[in-house]
Amino acid sequence: MVGRLVVVSNRVGDPRKAAAGGLAVALGDALAVSGGMWFGWSGKVVENGPRGEGELHVQQSGKVTLATIDLGREDYDAYYAGYSNRVLWPVFHYRLDLADLDAGFFDGYQRVNRLFARKLLDLLRPDDIIWVHDYHLIPLAAELRALGCQHRIGFFLHIPLPPPLILAAIPAHEWLMRSLFAYDLVGLQSAADLAHFSGYVIAEAGAELLPDDHFRAFNRLVRARAFPIGIDVNEFQALAETPESMEMRDTLREQYARRQLLVGVDRLDYSKGLPQRLRAFQRLLANYPENQQSATLIQVATPTREGLAAYDEIRKELEGLAGQINGDYGGLEWMPVRYMHRTLARRRLPGLYRAGRVALVTPLRDGMNLVAKEFIVAQDPQDPGVLVLSRFAGAAEQLSEALLVNPYDTGATAEAMQRALRMPLGERRERHQALLGRVCEHDVHWWRRGFLQALASAERAVG
Ligand code: G6P
Repeated sequence: MVGRLVVVSNRVGDPRKAAAGGLAVALGDALAVSGGMWFGWSGKVVENGPRGEGELHVQQSGKVTLATIDLGREDYDAYYAGYSNRVLWPVFHYRLDLADLDAGFFDGYQRVNRLFARKLLDLLRPDDIIWVHDYHLIPLAAELRALGCQHRIGFFLHIPLPPPLILAAIPAHEWLMRSLFAYDLVGLQSAADLAHFSGYVIAEAGAELLPDDHFRAFNRLVRARAFPIGIDVNEFQALAETPESMEMRDTLREQYARRQLLVGVDRLDYSKGLPQRLRAFQRLLANYPENQQSATLIQVATPTREGLAAYDEIRKELEGLAGQINGDYGGLEWMPVRYMHRTLARRRLPGLYRAGRVALVTPLRDGMNLVAKEFIVAQDPQDPGVLVLSRFAGAAEQLSEALLVNPYDTGATAEAMQRALRMPLGERRERHQALLGRVCEHDVHWWRRGFLQALASAERAVG
């Protein structure tokens, strides 16, 4: 590959440290291969810090330069907690009811993107290739271009892109979508997201569709494609061999020798469908009583974005439901739900997945969902567990041999859980083999290569 890779994302992970998973793993991996720079927020909020300014820290971590900026409280509240997480996150996950569209977060979002652009520009080398990630930074390329930046810049949206009429509920929707045309390549997770992109730009901006997935609109040319993100299969398999992971598996197997485990691991986000999942599990116990004294749901809900009202509410709802199910069905010998509101060390995850007979990955909407892929990789191919997957997760487009469910349909989800718990070995193996093949083939390296090749070969209107 020519040129240094510069990754820009809100959160920056140190690739040398045990990463938290998901985005951090995928990006750390991409940079470790060729060396490069990772630029973003430092994670530090400066109380009474100035608006539109922040201290820059540059450090070296192996082959990767980490460049991060502190944010002042006002900027952070408007850009991250405000526009990113109270406007873009809910709307992009189809939750207009949770969006705070009136508030004046927009200025802060623009201000921080402008700050990022200014600081980044000073660090760029002429042949750098810039790869911007996620909804926090949609206008970054437009801000860079306004400062004269001619580099190739790609953007990847990790979350879903909603249908045009939902997007149009954001007062600044036109500005946001026009901003995407400052990139050379826009990557989306799924074919559905890409259809929403093209539907929007054709209907709202009269975009012209050109060969090789290029669109012309707003006097600019952009290429847009779906690049479903994958996992680092080797890394996850190696993690499965660690003592922590094996200990986790053995302990759970011993403790639950006479039971069947269903596992769920999610950030405690309203997009993950956790109350719906618990209700479906409750229905499983009610409709198929043979699972009483046996089926046990281990639900890990990782704390996230605490302090935002929608997140505090979903936490209360979930705690209430877990308590109710345990109160109704539990006894001295058996508790149906083990609910944990904490982060589980990444090293223990494969062990938990391996001990699970069934994984419940049932978001109401999700860009991709990597837990689904990690669960598949963690299974014993001779005796694999079953994946129950929401049809509304981006992963459902690829993982069609999972038991696909509509998480809004409590009865049908309970039925799928029952089917998963009773699935004969032959069928489990067959489905798992097909799923594993696809997860291995379309891993994070495939994703990175596909995106960077498409970026390098994108047609440019200028530069
Ligand atoms: C999603 C987003 C990421 C984000 C992550 C954790 O996966 O796509 O951009 O980093 O959630 O959320 P947080 O707000 O804690 O960064």
